[in-house]
Amino acid sequence: MPRQEQARAPDVQASTVRAVVLRRGESGPRLVQAPRPEARKGQALVRTLRAGIDGTDEEVLRGAHGAFPPGRDELVLGHECLGEVVEAPPESGLVPGDRVVPLVRHGCGACEACARRADFCPTEGYREHGIKEMDGFFRDAWVDDPATLVKAPPGLDDLAVLVEPLSVVVKAFDEARRIQQRVPWFEEAGGFRGQRALMAGTGSLGTLGAFLLASEGMEVWALDRDADDAAAPALLREIGVKHVNTRERHVVDVAEQVGGFDLVLEATGAPQVAFDCVQTLAGNGCMAMLGVPADRPPLPVPADEIMRRMVLENQVLFGSVNSARRHFEEAMRRLADLRARWPGQVDRIVTHVFSPDEIVEAYQVRGPSVIKKVVDWTRGR
Ligand code: BGC
Ligand code: ZN
Repeated sequence: MPRQEQARAPDVQASTVRAVVLRRGESGPRLVQAPRPEARKGQALVRTLRAGIDGTDEEVLRGAHGAFPPGRDELVLGHECLGEVVEAPPESGLVPGDRVVPLVRHGCGACEACARRADFCPTEGYREHGIKEMDGFFRDAWVDDPATLVKAPPGLDDLAVLVEPLSVVVKAFDEARRIQQRVPWFEEAGGFRGQRALMAGTGSLGTLGAFLLASEGMEVWALDRDADDAAAPALLREIGVKHVNTRERHVVDVAEQVGGFDLVLEATGAPQVAFDCVQTLAGNGCMAMLGVPADRPPLPVPADEIMRRMVLENQVLFGSVNSARRHFEEAMRRLADLRARWPGQVDRIVTHVFSPDEIVEAYQVRGPSVIKKVVDWTRGR
C-alpha cells in the first residue's frame, strides 16, 4: 500500500473529524471534533488537503461579513480549499484520488441568475462556504454536490490552493476586457498588452492579480503600505512589478507622473484607497473594485472631481465578486502558465504554512512577511 494511503485512512473512517469553527458571540476560531460527514446519494465525500486564509476569513471572524447557517450558532470556517475525492457517485466523472477545488458560492436556487451563474445572483439568497450560511472547508472531510467541484490537474500540486483567489481576479480581468472592448481600437492596439495597470493591495488577491497582469504584458504597479523589502513588493519586483508605498507617496501623484492607469484593480477593501485609485485612471480607463469594505467609518470623497473626470474621460468603475466554474478552470491553466514562466517566484506566494492545531496563530500572524497563509490539513492526521 502506498504511504499516502496509510496516512489517509483514519480521517475517513473515524467517527469524528477535526473542524475549525466560529461560534456565535465569539471572535476567535476553535478547533473542535465534529461528526464525520456522510455523503448522501449524489454527493461526493472530499478530504481537505490544503486550505487558504484571506481577509474575508478575518472579517467573518470579526462578525463584519457573512452569516451563520439558519438555526445554528456555529459555522465551519474556510472557503479556499484544495481537496481530494474520497467517494463520488459514478456519474459525477470524479474518482477517488482526484484533486478538486470547490466552488465557494451556491446559488439561491430561486432566481434566474442562479440557474446560470450564481456569482451574478442579485438576491441575498445565495450561500457561500465558510462565509455565508454554509459550512466551509477547514475540516478533515466534507460533502458537496460534485457539480461544484472543479478537477485540479496533478501538475499544480499543493499550489492549487491558490485557484480560488486567482479565479476572483480572473473573473474581474475578463469583465474588464469585455468592458474595454467598447474602445474602438482596444483589440487592434493589442488589448491590455503594453497598457499600464495599478494593482491596489498586495495581499494574496493583490499579489496574484499583479502576477496575472504582468503575465498579460502590462506595465504593472502595485500599491500597499509596506516598505520595498516586504515580502510581496520584493517578490513582485522580481517579475518587474513596480511598487508604491502609500506611506511615502500618494498614488494620485504617481499616476500624474506616469500618465494615469488604463486598468485599476482594487483589492484592499479600504474605501479611502479605492476612491484615491479612481482618481488615478487614465482617459478611457477602467477600474474594478474587488475588496469588500467592512467596519469602515463614512468617508468624504471629492465627488464632483471624480464625477467630472469619469464623464469627460469615459471612465468605467465596476464591482466584481466571487467567480464561476469557468474562472476556476481558467485559473488552473493560468496558475500552471505563471509557474512555468516564473518558477522561482510563484511558489513563494505561499509564505506561511500552518497545521490545524496552530489555527489561532494562523489567523493572527500578519505583517510584512505575510503574503499567503495556508493550513496543511494532512498534518497531524
Ligand atoms: C471569496 C469570494 C466571495 C467573497 C464575498 C471572497 O473572499 O473569495 O468567493 O464571494 O469573498 O463573500
Ligand atoms: Zn440567486
